This record gives sequence, C-alpha cells and structure tokens, in this order.
Amino acid sequence: MIDAPEPLAGRVAVVTGGADGIGLATAERLAAAGATLVLVDVDPALPDIATTLADRHARAVLPITADVADDTAMADGFARVDAEFGRVDVLVNNAGIMTPHLVPVHEVALPDFDAMLRVHLRGAFVCARLAVPLMRRGAFGRIVNLTSVLGTLGLPGRSAYAVAKTGVIGLTRSLAVEGGRYGITANAVLPGWILTGRLRARLAAGTLDHDRYAERTPVGRWGDPADVARMITFLALPASGFLTGGVFPVDGGYCVRGDADEDIGPVHDRQEVG
Ligand SMILES: NC(=O)c1ccc[n+]([C@@H]2O[C@H](COP(=O)([O-])OP(=O)(O)OC[C@H]3O[C@@H](n4cnc5c(N)ncnc54)[C@H](O)[C@@H]3O)[C@@H](O)[C@H]2O)c1
Repeated sequence: MIDAPEPLAGRVAVVTGGADGIGLATAERLAAAGATLVLVDVDPALPDIATTLADRHARAVLPITADVADDTAMADGFARVDAEFGRVDVLVNNAGIMTPHLVPVHEVALPDFDAMLRVHLRGAFVCARLAVPLMRRGAFGRIVNLTSVLGTLGLPGRSAYAVAKTGVIGLTRSLAVEGGRYGITANAVLPGWILTGRLRARLAAGTLDHDRYAERTPVGRWGDPADVARMITFLALPASGFLTGGVFPVDGGYCVRGDADEDIGPVHDRQEVG
C-alpha cells in the first residue's frame, strides 16, 4: 500500500456482501491493510468465513448475518459495531444480486424489479445513513459503492439492475457533496466482467459466453475479484481524501471501447514501418 505498511490500522471497515466474490476479496485486502472488519451478509456461512479471515490476518472480524435492506436489522448491526469498536471508518456497499436470465423491460415482473432495487439501492442507502453519523463523529469516512457497467451503458435484458446501479451513482454523488466538510469521501467503483463464483456458475451452465466478453474487453481477459478489491482499498485509504464523487472503472477498458471496422491486433504483431 501507499504510505505505511498497514495504512488502515486502527480503522473499522464494514463490507456488505462480504461472504463471497468481490466483497470477500475486498475484506482480505482491507484486513491486510490493517483494518478491523465487519462483514454483513445473508449467507449462513458468514460466521465461519469471518473466523477464517480473523485467523489468517490476526484481526477482529465481526460477522453480522443480516439483509442490508432491513433497516431494523442493520440499525442493530451498526449499534453493535459502535458498542464493540466505537467507530466506523470505511463502508463498502457491495452486497448485490443478479437474475440469471435476460428479461426485456415489458416482461420484468414488478416484484423482481422491487427486489433488485431493494438490495442494491435501498441496501446501500440504509447502510450509508447508518454509517454517516458515526463517520461524522470521527471526522473521517470512506464510502465505496459498487456500481456496474450497467450504471453507464445500456445492455438488453438487465433494466432493473441498470436502474439500481445507476441509482447507486446518484447516492454516491449526494454522499460526496454532503460529506466533504466532515472528512467523508464517497466514490463508486465500476467493475467490468469479473470472474466471481456467481458468474463462473453461469459460464459453466452455458448462459454466458466467456470468450465473447474477454474479446470485447480491450485488455483481453475477465477481471479477477482482486482487481476490484485493490481499487476499493485504494479509495478507502486515509491518503485518498481528495478523491470523492468519482466513478472509477475497473473494467479492462470495456466501457471506453467503441466499434471499429478493423482490428489492428496485438502491438507486438505489428510490422515495423520505415
Ligand atoms: N461480478 C461482476 O462481474 C460484477 C460486475 C459489476 C458489478 N458487480 C457488483 O459487485 C458487487 C459484488 O458482486 P459479486 O459478483 O462479488 O457478487 P457475489 O454474488 O459473488 O457476492 C454478493 C454477496 O452479496 C450477498 N448478498 C446478496 N444479497 C444480500 C442482502 N440482501 N444482504 C446482505 N448480503 C447480500 C450474497 O450472499 C453474496 O455473498 C455487486 O453489487 C454486483 O452487482 C459485480
């Protein structure tokens, strides 16, 4: 990391959806940077995962098995964090769901739409509004919200997810402008196609074409959860205090790629000219 070997020593980081995928990779990185961890997840395996992490990094890891959108459960959870650690410095709003199938707007069942917004948007909102007072009390806060390619590009069949992930960017901007004077930053991280367990399962089931997305991505591969975790951890550092209100892609260039008639191929295959 940038400054000290453990720049987050003495800091408390809450990671939602911390039992798997990007959240778990982020928890590993934050712990390695010295943070005390609070993991929130609906996965019943969370306490065991927390114990494994605590042993590996010799840190306190508090598991809170709860739904991020359940405001009562999350109020209890944050009260517990306050009682045990007396502070919250970092909040990573990462918990998320995705439906395995593509559904056009006119066929989206409204309960499915509500469920998508509930986890991604209400969940992030609920956690942020509970974390901010604790961050203001400590005059320090780093909020990182997970958006998506769908927060900036339209793709067919994913409207509910796109609405939720675009909304997360609005929440991020509001938190950034409200928090600046209190030492609180808020940023969104925009992962491209990341090989998490959830997407590995879809690749294995044949509902997603691995090579197509690797090829569409300028760096020519899928991302690893650690790629995203590195950016989240960077934004969580005390030294990142002038970065706020941003949307940071970790997508191998996916969102800046336009169409072209010709493919110039890898640079090393090009002929020397002159
Ligand atoms: N994997 C990707 O390619 C990708 C791309 C763009 C954005 N994202 C976003 O990154 C985040 C993490 O994605 P991932 O691929 O690591 O997902 P994942 O499915 O591997 O992990 C998500 C975690 O969130 C938990 N969770 C789900 N609903 C919850 C709830 N209501 N309350 C608490 N926990 C809940 C799950 O149990 C799981 O542990 C999500 O917000 C996702 O939308 C992922």
